[in-house]
Amino acid sequence: MINSIKKLKKINAKKVLLRLDLNVQIKDGKILDDYRLEAAKETIEFLLKKKAKLIIISHLGKAEGKRDEKYSLKPVALKLKEILKQPLKFSPEHEPLKVLNEVSKLKNGEILMLENLRFNSGELKNETLFAKQLASLADLYVNDAFSVSHRSQASVDAIKKYLPSYAGLLMEKELEALAKILKPKKPFIAIMGGAKISTKAPLIEKFLTKAEKILIGGALATTFVKEMGFEVGKSLYDKDSAKIITKLFKIKGAAEKISLPIDFVVLTRDGKAKVVRPDEVKKSESILDIGPETIGIFAEYIKSASTLVWNGPMGKFEDGRFKQGSLSLARLVATRSKGRAYGLVGGGETVAVLKMTKMEEYVDFVSTAGGAMLSYLGGEKMPGLKKIVK
Ligand code: 3PG
Repeated sequence: MINSIKKLKKINAKKVLLRLDLNVQIKDGKILDDYRLEAAKETIEFLLKKKAKLIIISHLGKAEGKRDEKYSLKPVALKLKEILKQPLKFSPEHEPLKVLNEVSKLKNGEILMLENLRFNSGELKNETLFAKQLASLADLYVNDAFSVSHRSQASVDAIKKYLPSYAGLLMEKELEALAKILKPKKPFIAIMGGAKISTKAPLIEKFLTKAEKILIGGALATTFVKEMGFEVGKSLYDKDSAKIITKLFKIKGAAEKISLPIDFVVLTRDGKAKVVRPDEVKKSESILDIGPETIGIFAEYIKSASTLVWNGPMGKFEDGRFKQGSLSLARLVATRSKGRAYGLVGGGETVAVLKMTKMEEYVDFVSTAGGAMLSYLGGEKMPGLKKIVK
């Protein structure tokens, strides 16, 4: 059961501390992708309509507990204001007690957004004192940041000890969508790519009991192939993977369920893209995409699915020569979704690939979460969900 803000009787004139995940990519002061900002709109508008006094808090990037202008949320605040089409005041202060005065001046239906929470070490350490200071700003706390709810940090974890706590509308949608993956309609096909096997192994292990097939690409596939004894040349792979892969293959049915590429696109020594079999990769080459025959095989599995989940690109899609694997899978997942299968796509890079195809509308749910989605589906404890999901 989710303790949703929809259950709140009286919001009027209440000071609401709204935890969003506005962690977006910024280059030269420009927001590269405003998907998380768009996704935050519904809860903000819901609360403003009910005349709350809104205090928006978020993190940005990997700020390390001290002020660091390159991680300022100011450009994000400006963009959010543009998206919301309403006034939004940004405070350059990151210490909660320094904004008490501004908060006290908030009128019903107004928004104040604070500077990056991760400028405070107390946030990163989940400190009680910092959580109390944050809590002193408001009457209620709303977590609408599912995508950072796997972190034990003060604004998603400790804060809930000090304020009545609720889930926002995006949080609810994320959880409802992920419930369909936790109890998938069969056949269930999972597609996994990206790099680090250590973050994906618990999930692959879970999927081995639920999925008909797990299609593996990206550096994850290279890691498997390397552990199987093939040459992977200069390719990116996870060096600490031997034990993990041995453990995975001990699970009953793993060898049949895990589908690895049968061909790759490599970058050759003279800078060309070439399709090769796994046993043809040379020491001087790097594996950068799945090959056409693999795409064909993966396509058949995708076309058979009633539930599809995809996290992690199939290769270096930012380079035109190595984007076909990821783009083809994005198109296949989108085409199969909304009808014949329930399709869910998550993770920053995976969503970026999907957007390149302009087919995101065809997918049932595009999650704002990457790491949090992996943790949740992998069955890990989510500090941000404590008390708001029972
Ligand atoms: C994300 O982008 O996955 C979330 O914002 C969490 O960010 P973090 O990995 O820096 O905690």
